[in-house]
Amino acid sequence: MRTVFVVSGGDAPGINTVLGNYIRLAVQNGDTVLGANGGFPGLLDNQIVPLTFDKIVPWTGRGGSILASSRDPVLNQAEAGEHLKTILRDNAIDNIVLFGGNGTLRYIPPLLRDWGIPIIGLPTTIDNDVPGTEMTLGFDSACNFAYHSIDGAMATAHALRGRIFLIETLGGNCGNLALAVAYGADAHAAILPEYPYEDLWLSERVTNALKNDGYALVVICEGARGARTLADDIPKWTGTRVRDVRLGHAQRGGVASHRDRVLAADMAHAAYTALKSGVQAGIACVTNGTLTIRKDSLEQFNLPAPDRTLYNRINGLE
Ligand code: F6P
Repeated sequence: MRTVFVVSGGDAPGINTVLGNYIRLAVQNGDTVLGANGGFPGLLDNQIVPLTFDKIVPWTGRGGSILASSRDPVLNQAEAGEHLKTILRDNAIDNIVLFGGNGTLRYIPPLLRDWGIPIIGLPTTIDNDVPGTEMTLGFDSACNFAYHSIDGAMATAHALRGRIFLIETLGGNCGNLALAVAYGADAHAAILPEYPYEDLWLSERVTNALKNDGYALVVICEGARGARTLADDIPKWTGTRVRDVRLGHAQRGGVASHRDRVLAADMAHAAYTALKSGVQAGIACVTNGTLTIRKDSLEQFNLPAPDRTLYNRINGLE
């Protein structure tokens, strides 16, 4: 069996771990693993390289991806399907394993299935926003990255009292990452794109935190209202300067956590086993903590809003 790996969209910690696990398993069984450099534009341009275990070993715990990705939607172009099939045929490639987040997995696996190209999708994004799975690869690592920064901020918050800390996470327009971090860090407020809030409410929340706890910790998702303005507005409301930290892309490129390494190993084994047994199309989904390759997840496009109960608990709205 000859498999090509493609990375599409944002990278995530754990991609290299999947590659290491998959390559070792496949090579032991006499199979070949290839990688497309530069996502689907790279694959269509025949940028295909052999992936060997010795090349990947030093990178297995690192964030990012040894295979370059792309956000260019080239498969939408006319003749893309025929072009792709020709490339796969010329390279004797039997199937594709695709790393991607919401934007990638909602449209590429159904497309490839309809073109008759065997495909396994692996939900990889720090945003944890892929419908059908409880946990995407990279999410846990991104949470842990945030805790390193917040732990540092909390240490200095204890030494110098009366300060407001505003921590901005990535996540785009999805608040799942910010919500999880806020809850895990015991923040005073979580500000998410999905749930509107009143400025007066936030001002009071921060003022009370300063009074009761000697500091205030607010976690905000980059796509939420106020992400670019709260650092200036909160001091006007409260009279206290804000210490703001934008985790930015450093959060996406951090090391893979234990939980993500285990998920990566599960994904590699599940994808390899599925392809060997002739599965034509599926996505690796975690359901009740167990990972399986599911065909029905290709049809699931609706992402639930972030957990309202947690949101209310963090924000004192219960
Ligand atoms: O891959 C998901 C993500 O990291 C989001 O959290 C973020 O909003 C976005 O990608 C950033 O995209 P880019 O790398 O194109 O700046």
